[in-house]
Amino acid sequence: MSSLFGLLRRKPAAARPIEAQVATPAALPAWAQPLFVSALAPCVADGADVLVWKIQDDASTAVISDQFKANAGDYHQRYAASDHFEKLFNQGLEKTGVTVAERPLILDLGSGSGVNSIVPCMRLFPGARSIATDLSGELLSMLGAYLRETGAVEQAVCVQMDAMSDHVAPGAFDLVTGAAILHHLERPKAGLAAAARALKPGGHAIFFEPFDGYGIMRLAYERILSEARLRGDPLDPLVERVLGNMVIDTAARTDPDPTTAAFKALDDKWLFSRERITAMAQDVGFTEIRIVPNNDGANLYQLIAPIQLRLATGRIDLPLPDWAMDILKSFDAALPPSFKRMAMLEGTLVLTKG
Ligand SMILES: C[S@@+](CC[C@H](N)C(=O)[O-])C[C@H]1O[C@@H](n2cnc3c(N)ncnc32)[C@H](O)[C@@H]1O
Repeated sequence: MSSLFGLLRRKPAAARPIEAQVATPAALPAWAQPLFVSALAPCVADGADVLVWKIQDDASTAVISDQFKANAGDYHQRYAASDHFEKLFNQGLEKTGVTVAERPLILDLGSGSGVNSIVPCMRLFPGARSIATDLSGELLSMLGAYLRETGAVEQAVCVQMDAMSDHVAPGAFDLVTGAAILHHLERPKAGLAAAARALKPGGHAIFFEPFDGYGIMRLAYERILSEARLRGDPLDPLVERVLGNMVIDTAARTDPDPTTAAFKALDDKWLFSRERITAMAQDVGFTEIRIVPNNDGANLYQLIAPIQLRLATGRIDLPLPDWAMDILKSFDAALPPSFKRMAMLEGTLVLTKG
């Protein structure tokens, strides 16, 4: 069975734009056409195979950074975690008691390479058909190549599309999903509105997002940075820089002012508060809003710090000194699971349209 990793290593010809192709592109699968109110056109093809479609005459002005375009391969390899996201889907459904329609029609917002949403949903919901959407043709073309390689082109269609847009048919989908998309949007409420609009009445949306409980990690990192100075025991310079950046980044994304130029320049823009995301979801027509904290474990903060270091640097050989791990341990010891659920780092939003 081909994996997304395998396809990446082979660098498929998928990234060539449609203009470079000579063959007549294949048609959109028949089931997908009625799911759009806007016309679709081929976007990325490999020979006669259209790997990614786009919205014709799209007026979206949303932009994404190079980490999702020129550096898409590196991004995919750093963040791919299908099994982890499959567990989160299961956990969100089990804890809320929500059930998804048989053979659901799924709209996935901000799919990237699809590894964390489309791939788990193909496993979890047999017979599902998915529309995978993203602004990055580069990331979507990896998914398109994977679908072709695994004979799954009838199960999912990739469309370059702004998550804040209204190009899909209203009331057409059983399930909307999104792994780490809303916090990238300048107007997350517009993304939630697009999800609510796309769903059938009684349909569900599931989003995985970061929350303002990351303020605890900020406090721990500030303590580690000052302890290094007090001890005269400097951290590895790269570790020091990453922790310093985390402190700045967490502050900038906590209750940000979306009208500022600084906010617009941020790639990851939000660490949501329960109140803000709940109010936004209610405003756009979700009648049931449940937030499931992803992790309340006894070692949560000790677990997350090395993960954040790895994700920021791509390196696994940057350990924190024992005294720094002891600081994280003291945060873990001071804050019980009930607190970690209240001030969650990451959470699963399970929303139902009335
Ligand atoms: C953190 S990544 C998550 C990707 C994927 N869901 C995953 O878990 O690997 C955020 C994704 O959102 C996409 N994105 C950012 N702004 C967008 C927008 N306005 N519309 C659609 N996609 C967007 C980026 O291109 C990127 O692929």
